[in-house]
Amino acid sequence: MTLRDLLTGLPGHPTHPPLTDATIGLYTGAAAFGVLSALGVAEENMAVAWWLALVAGLVVSAPTAVTGLLDWLKITRGTPLWRTATSHLVAMLAATLLFAAAAILGHAGYADREVETLPLVLTLAGFAVLALGGWLGGTIVYVHGMRVLKEEDRPAARAVRPDSGEGA
Ligand code: HEM
Repeated sequence: MTLRDLLTGLPGHPTHPPLTDATIGLYTGAAAFGVLSALGVAEENMAVAWWLALVAGLVVSAPTAVTGLLDWLKITRGTPLWRTATSHLVAMLAATLLFAAAAILGHAGYADREVETLPLVLTLAGFAVLALGGWLGGTIVYVHGMRVLKEEDRPAARAVRPDSGEGA
């Protein structure tokens, strides 16, 4: 097994999708906590949760982006799959920048246990772009079928093995 296999996962078991669950979950939490704080629901606690979830999302984004990038590098340039995946890359980079700006500009408010307007707007804008990027990510997998083995008749005991299937 190469280092690349370790990073991108085995056939039928890519590493990018589970990492995206953690990233999207943290950013979704940040958006929800930010809105709840702004609405005055446990305002101070939600402000702390908002900022910490944003920072945790940014930390988890690093391995998420690296694994996605390694898969993207394997795609043939100029193909429809490449165009969708490149749009996904651009959307996710834009979302990450918006969340990073929200965390940086929102730090002073976090210290005062409040979510200020601009960081909240940046968080919600990041969430909207994240949703678009997630849609495009789903298109890569469920429309173009990237990294899907689709071996319905493979016996279950063999299908769950990490070495199941051929190729990516
Ligand atoms: C850091 C934020 C990112 C998030 C939250 C994210 C999210 C997603 C999601 C939700 C999927 C569909 C997975 C599924 O439903 O099974 C996906 C697939 C994919 N993403 Fe990302 N992505 C991110 C970054 C990137 C980057 C920077 C690239 C580089 C181009 C990339 C390339 C891919 C590729 C190639 C797939 C197809 C499936 C695979 O490779 O495992 N992603 N992504």
